[in-house]
Amino acid sequence: MSKSFYVTTPIFYVNDAPHIGHAYTEVAADVLTRWHAQRGESAFLLTGTDEHGEKVLRTALGNNTDPKSWTDRLVKDSWLPLLETIDINNQDFIRTTDERHKVAVQKFLQKLYDDGFIYQGSFEGNYCVGCEEYKNDGDLIDGEGEFLGQRVCAIHSKPVEQLNENNYFFKLSEFQQKLLDHYEQNPKFVQPESARNEVVSFVRQGLSDLSISRSKERFDWGIDIPWDSSHITYVWFDALLNYITAIGYGEDDAKLASLWPADVQVVGKDILRFHAVIWPAMLMAAGLQPPKQVFGHGWLLVGGEKMSKSKLTGIAPNQITDAFGSDAFRYYFMKAIGFGSDGSFSWEDLSARYNSELANGFGNLASRSIAMVKKYFDGAVPAPGEYLEADNQVIAIAKKAATEADAAIDEVAIHEAIQKSWLLVDELNNYITSQAPWVLAKDEANQERLGTVMYVIVEGLRVLNVLLAPIMPKATGKLWAAIGEGELSAQTIGSAGQWGITKPGFVLKELEALFPRVDQAE
Ligand code: ME8
Ligand code: MG
Repeated sequence: MSKSFYVTTPIFYVNDAPHIGHAYTEVAADVLTRWHAQRGESAFLLTGTDEHGEKVLRTALGNNTDPKSWTDRLVKDSWLPLLETIDINNQDFIRTTDERHKVAVQKFLQKLYDDGFIYQGSFEGNYCVGCEEYKNDGDLIDGEGEFLGQRVCAIHSKPVEQLNENNYFFKLSEFQQKLLDHYEQNPKFVQPESARNEVVSFVRQGLSDLSISRSKERFDWGIDIPWDSSHITYVWFDALLNYITAIGYGEDDAKLASLWPADVQVVGKDILRFHAVIWPAMLMAAGLQPPKQVFGHGWLLVGGEKMSKSKLTGIAPNQITDAFGSDAFRYYFMKAIGFGSDGSFSWEDLSARYNSELANGFGNLASRSIAMVKKYFDGAVPAPGEYLEADNQVIAIAKKAATEADAAIDEVAIHEAIQKSWLLVDELNNYITSQAPWVLAKDEANQERLGTVMYVIVEGLRVLNVLLAPIMPKATGKLWAAIGEGELSAQTIGSAGQWGITKPGFVLKELEALFPRVDQAE
């Protein structure tokens, strides 16, 4: 079996329903996966839910239910529907309460224990339940408001809890040099550059061993430690393993080898250290390769603050998709925010871009182009005559857009891939204005020139149709139904920029509206 391009998202805590921050990560990972599939590669996207630990347990109890009933309900009612809402094409969905996961986590733990990477010890420290993590003093800030005078978690703005535990430890400290060597030898392992620098300087300061179990005397919502049933597994140790338990670790070696190492693990920068420090060390200890890349994206901000469930600044994804549709959601967040940087969401910006870039820019380009072929050529794509300079310019930009957008994806610069593709949207709109087919159509003598112009437009649209398919699957599906021959999935990114694929004589079909007006939405 040859290796597939393997992309993962974090598995999200099911302490509440998803907001647009979670949807943002999902869309980015989905776009990358679809892009690779559109290249003609086999591509696999994994996502799922993180269901153990104190945070989820406390939420369930606070809602007068048990954690299993709570997570079952939330996964069914909120987290799986999210994938429909934003059009995610994942190949698997893992829950840490799945039997396949629990069994594989125990195998992994037992192996590390047998190989001497786990020992028993005691520990005292400040625990943030929001992060499910022990905090160093440097990770804490002075509290405000009701927490004035206390030290609080910098991410959750809530006080930490003093814990004193007797439990099992993973020898993370042994991996400091191996990790530093790995970062050095694999400069793309942590991206973007700012994330890489942060991780490298963190590891240079030295690593402490990691407490990886919790005594059942405190709580028991987790996976049993295989050799000591009085302890459960620390939620992060359990959760990180999802990336391999879902693809056959300890169960199906051929499947594991067909996917691992992951090509891109997309995470928010809040959980970068878990993925770029602890996770590769766990894998090294087990004799497995680290992922090829961990990409830490920025935060969606609302009113200057990280949008979050705990701070009640969350916006539900379907508030946006109900008004604008899933394609607009995907396009907006991927284009408006440089992938890797923070970005502020605003309804005004979304609405303005929807109208100018999607409805007027791309949607109108498609509908008027097809309408002109109908009007001037009864819907049959005309054969081009001799190309003039303006035509050659479109052809050159189409090729450049395809090549450069594709290259941007290798850098995980999703915003740039869209920008490069959009040069062709703008070029085609300018071309229509400058060539004015409606003027050419007035004189029979211009028939050949009119045919060339219309061919250039339709062929340019085809290039766009392929490049934008991973970003906006619905709109491009509709466009392809009108202008394309065969399956859109068979059109590779690599051949998208080749000129002359549309066959003269091909009869265009009706185009469904791509981006209906939503002036009445707000
Ligand atoms: O950390 N902007 O789960 P979680 C951008 N279960 N992305 C955001 C965001 C925002 N404002 N808010 C959340 C966990 N996210 C663990 C992960 S993985 C083995 C275990 C996204 O529910 C972003 O991807 O707190 C962030 O890293 C993730 O949600 C945190 O989700
Ligand atoms: Mg969180």
